[in-house]
Amino acid sequence: MRVIMCVILIAEINLFQERETAMRLDKYLADMGTGTRSEIKKQIKSGNVTVSGEVIRDPGYKVGAGSDIAINGESIMYEEYVYYMLNKPAGVISASEDPHEETVVDLIDERKRRDLFPAGRLDRDTEGLMLITNNGDLAHRILSPKHHVDKTYYAVIMGDVTEDDVRAFAGGLVLSDGLECMPADLEILSRVTDDLYAAIENESLENSVMTEVNITIREGKFHQIKRMFSSIGCEVMYLKRLSMGPLELDETLLPGEYRRLTEEEVDSLLKL
Ligand code: URA
Repeated sequence: MRVIMCVILIAEINLFQERETAMRLDKYLADMGTGTRSEIKKQIKSGNVTVSGEVIRDPGYKVGAGSDIAINGESIMYEEYVYYMLNKPAGVISASEDPHEETVVDLIDERKRRDLFPAGRLDRDTEGLMLITNNGDLAHRILSPKHHVDKTYYAVIMGDVTEDDVRAFAGGLVLSDGLECMPADLEILSRVTDDLYAAIENESLENSVMTEVNITIREGKFHQIKRMFSSIGCEVMYLKRLSMGPLELDETLLPGEYRRLTEEEVDSLLKL
């Protein structure tokens, strides 16, 4: 009797799990970025979609993450979460979509799922590492003020950044609006060279002192780095994010280019 009860219980659990993972065929295909819901419905009704080799014409047909699904013979694997590393160029905004402006998600032009968003924000003029994903839990962990994930930036600063400033940043700056910053690591790389002046292409800057720095912060308040430098009388001329926790910008990516994260990179983020 106990054995029978056990078998029934296991069967019920399996059924429950199947129901939990089951989804409509048209949603599966939409999640995988194969088209709009109406395009997908047309494909299904035209007999172009198979499940385990059998043509299915019902968009509401229930499938699971492990189902063998193909459109016109091309297999469509289900991935619950996707992760892209983008080298954000200046001039695009950190949003999923916008009616007027180009967004970081617009730059992902391979077959694209509709639930992508940037994990965090960079100012329009900031470049560098941007994680784009559909994993909300992971994004929350990276961004949550509780987790204090290190973010390192390279910056070109108008002004002479000194060792006193390094100590002030390490002690935790208090900004003019009263914001108390967490200790930040500031590393002076060099005074700016003639090459960099030329790259910035601004003659009015000739003879002004500029400093290249790396700065690591553990929080992400609005315009945080610009406000920190402003509080010591300096201006950020160029800002590029180099890393976020264990994730480092792939320097082979030109501004605007992206790639999928490797398994190791995803694992390192999931451990945060
Ligand atoms: N701090 C800033 O001021 N801007 C950014 O884009 C990121 C950090």
